[in-house]
Amino acid sequence: MKIINVVGARPNFMKIAPLMAAYEAHPAIEPLLVHTGQHYDERMSELFFRQLGIPAPDINLEVGSASHAVQTAEIMRAFEPVVEEHKPGAVLVVGDVNSTVACGLVAVKLGVKLVHVEAGLRSFDRTMPEEINRMVTDAISDLLFCSEPSGVKNLRAEGVAAERIFLVGNVMIDTLLKNKAKADASDILETLGLQPGSYAVLTLHRPSNVDDPVAMGRILDALEVIQAELPIVFPIHPRTRKNLAGSPLGARVAGMADLRLIDPAGYLDFLKLTSSAKLVLTDSGGIQEETTILRVPCLTLRENTERPVTSEVGSNQIVGTDTEKILTAYRQVRDGAGGDSGIPELWDGHAAERIAEILSEVLT
Ligand code: UD1
Repeated sequence: MKIINVVGARPNFMKIAPLMAAYEAHPAIEPLLVHTGQHYDERMSELFFRQLGIPAPDINLEVGSASHAVQTAEIMRAFEPVVEEHKPGAVLVVGDVNSTVACGLVAVKLGVKLVHVEAGLRSFDRTMPEEINRMVTDAISDLLFCSEPSGVKNLRAEGVAAERIFLVGNVMIDTLLKNKAKADASDILETLGLQPGSYAVLTLHRPSNVDDPVAMGRILDALEVIQAELPIVFPIHPRTRKNLAGSPLGARVAGMADLRLIDPAGYLDFLKLTSSAKLVLTDSGGIQEETTILRVPCLTLRENTERPVTSEVGSNQIVGTDTEKILTAYRQVRDGAGGDSGIPELWDGHAAERIAEILSEVLT
């Protein structure tokens, strides 16, 4: 039984790593790894393969960046002959990036079973490209693996049959737990001259923030106040760097002495940075989950989340982009709030093993 596993963009790599390892206990499964090339910079892709011990992709489609339509279409064109050649028993996609939906569509149109890992998450915000990718992928998937109970509830409400849905836990957390000790040995704090618990980490890359000067301006108003009290480390996504370059907002960022821009960090350095931080500010999805496990207070700079368990059980607060709301939440954390969060069900480091077990029962 061949299973083609697809990765494309940075957040996919930590999700596929434990699956590739878990297949080893199931010799009947022959995994192939396809990289679409959606992310291609060394620091956005190859570094993660090395650090997480992911086998080199069997095939790289080398699609690269483009508009959504062109990128999605190019991935489909390049992936179709791969599926035709290998005739897999299933195609497995993770997450919600353009590579996920593109390869999912190719699989089902060739009559190949589609497996979606991290199914059912919904922000109910259709202006997010990822929300469209999630909805379409789930609608065409045969087997749907959920990371949190909201995923199961959303899929059931959309009419997906219960026997196709499995609550298995979170593969991204498998990777975090496996690599925590290695990350603890990272020297990134010394390199940056930081003390544990005395800085914040910031990530921003959502188009609704970084492509919108008004929202970005409101966030910067808050960051200006925060960095004057607590240094902020900002590993900057290429998209955000391009947007800021040469703009008035870029000049504001450059003028903030303790908003410290660094290149995108590798997995281990980033895990060390977040796990030792006083606070994380982010518009990422996965970081809301990682800070939950690490019990580090997280302020999510978005109006919604598709990962509600992180704020119901975990350390995450959805604060949006209103300057005063961000500052109020920041001051609460500064003054000691947010340390008593819990861990969601099944986020125990064994999600990928459960998935591999189910796949070997259902597919082989
Ligand atoms: C993509 C995902 C998003 C995910 C994010 C994580 C979609 C719709 N979006 O967003 O869900 O949270 O990855 O990073 O799939 N670029 C580089 N080098 C790279 C990759 C990108 O410079 O290796 C630049 C290019 O200018 C590119 C831009 O970043 O146009 C955006 O890349 P793209 O893959 O289209 O979307 P992301 O913003 O990275």
